[in-house]
Amino acid sequence: MEISPVFKVTAGLLMATVMTIFYINKPSTGVVPELPNTWWGPGTENLQTDKTVRQFEILFTKAQVNDLKSRLKNTRDLAPPLKGTGWSYGTNGTFLKKNIVDYWLNKYDFKKRLAYLNKYDQFKTNIQGLDIHFIHVKPKNTQGKNVLPLLILHGWPGSVREFYELIPMLTSPQADHDFVFEVIAPSLPGFGFSSSAVRPGLGAKEMAVVMMNLMRRLSFDKFYTQGGDWGAKICGQMATLFPEHLLGIHLNYCYLAEWKSVFKIFLYSFFPSLLLPKEDHHLLYPMKKHFFKTLLETGYLHIQATKPDTVGIGLSDSPAALAGYVLEKFSYGTNPSYQSKDDGGIYEKFTPDTLIDNLMIYWISNSITTSMRLYAESLNSFSRLSELSWPIKVPTACAQFPHELFYYPPKLLQDKYLNLIQVTRMPRGGHFPALEEPKLLSDDIWKFTAATFNSSKLSETKKDEF
Ligand SMILES: *[C@@H]1O[C@H](CO)[C@@H](O)[C@H](O)[C@H]1NC(C)=O
Repeated sequence: MEISPVFKVTAGLLMATVMTIFYINKPSTGVVPELPNTWWGPGTENLQTDKTVRQFEILFTKAQVNDLKSRLKNTRDLAPPLKGTGWSYGTNGTFLKKNIVDYWLNKYDFKKRLAYLNKYDQFKTNIQGLDIHFIHVKPKNTQGKNVLPLLILHGWPGSVREFYELIPMLTSPQADHDFVFEVIAPSLPGFGFSSSAVRPGLGAKEMAVVMMNLMRRLSFDKFYTQGGDWGAKICGQMATLFPEHLLGIHLNYCYLAEWKSVFKIFLYSFFPSLLLPKEDHHLLYPMKKHFFKTLLETGYLHIQATKPDTVGIGLSDSPAALAGYVLEKFSYGTNPSYQSKDDGGIYEKFTPDTLIDNLMIYWISNSITTSMRLYAESLNSFSRLSELSWPIKVPTACAQFPHELFYYPPKLLQDKYLNLIQVTRMPRGGHFPALEEPKLLSDDIWKFTAATFNSSKLSETKKDEF
C-alpha cells in the first residue's frame, strides 16, 4: 500500500512538534555565575573605603531653580501635533508647553514639594565605589510584630517618588498580621541621587550585586523585595544570585524574555484555549497585532540600548524635552488607550505635582543620561539577554495589572518562576501601580508575605556586616 504524501508530511510535522514540545519543556540548566564586587566608582578600591551610612536630604538650590525656570520660560514653540492623532506620534507639544511647562514654571511650589520629597529619612552609603541613595522607613508601634525588611526597587523612567504613597501602607502595622515592613527604597545606580558608574558593564544583574551589598551594609541578612519594570528584573536577578537571602519577591511586572517562552506562545497560538480562557485570548493573540504594537512602542528601548548618551544630550539640557520624553511613558504605561487623548490622559491617575516631582529628581540630579544606560548595559548583547532569563526558585508573587505593557499567562510564568505562590489579576491599574493604585499593590504585598513568612526563617538570620 502506498503511503500518501499528505500522511507523510502530517506525520513528520507531528513528530517535529512532539520533539519541540519535549525540548522546550526541558528545565533550564543555565549555570549562575558568582559575580564579582566590581568597583564602579572612580579610582580603585582601597582599605580606606568609607563604609559609613550618612543622612541625606534632597536640595533644590536657588541657582538650580533659577536656571530651571529660565529654561522653562524660554521653551520654544513646539510643532503642533497632526490633527486627530493624540499622542500617537509622541507627546503633544502644544499641550506640553501650555500645560506641563506652564505648571512647572508658575504653579509648582518648589519649596513645598522639596519638603514633601524630604518627608522620609534618607541616607547615602558607598557601595562598590558608588554613593547609593536610599529612603529608609522603620515602622512604629511594632510590639508583638516581626519587622520584615522590604527592599523596593523602581524602574525607568521612575524614581523613589513612585513609593511615597505606598510606604506608609507597608510600615503601618495591621491587626490581623504578626509582621510589619521596614522599607528600604534606593535610587538605582545612575538614577536620581545615587551616583553612576564610570566604566561600562553595570547592567541589571550587576545592580543586583550592588543592592545585595547595600542590604548587607545595613545588616539585613534575609529580606523581601518588591519591584516593577527594571526593579522587577533586578529583584529577579537578586533571587537567582542570592536565593538564601531572599524570603520572597513580589513583582508587579513578571516578564518572560526567553526564546522558549516566545516559542511556546507561538505554539499555543494554534490551540490558544489550552493556554488561556477564551475571554483572555486577545491578551496574546493574534500575535501579529501584539508584535506590531510592541514594535511601535519600543523605539525608545532600542535607542537607549544603543546610543543613550546621544538622546541624553537634549533631555538633560531642556526640561521641556525631559518632560515630553518621560511623560509619554507615563501616558502609555497607565493605559495604552490614553494615546488617543489630547492630553495623553496623564491627569487621569496622576497630579501635575506628582509627575513633576519625578521629573525634578531626574532634573536636579542630571541623571537622565546615566539612567538610560541601564538599557545598554543590560540589553546590548545576546549573552546579556540570556542572563535576564535565569530561572527563579525563591517564592514569587506576580501582581498583574490590566494595562501592563505585556501579559503572560500563569502557566508560562511557572517556567521561569519555579516557586510561584500567587498570581493576582488586578481590577485596574497599569505600569506604575505604586503611584496609580497603591492600596491594591500594598494589599497584595501583605497577602503574599502572610502566605510565605515563617518567623523561624528570620531567626536563622546572621548579621554579618559588609
Ligand atoms: C494637543 O493639545 C492641545 C492643547 O491641549 C489641544 O488643543 C489639541 O487638540 C491637542 N492635539 C491633539 C492632536 O491631540
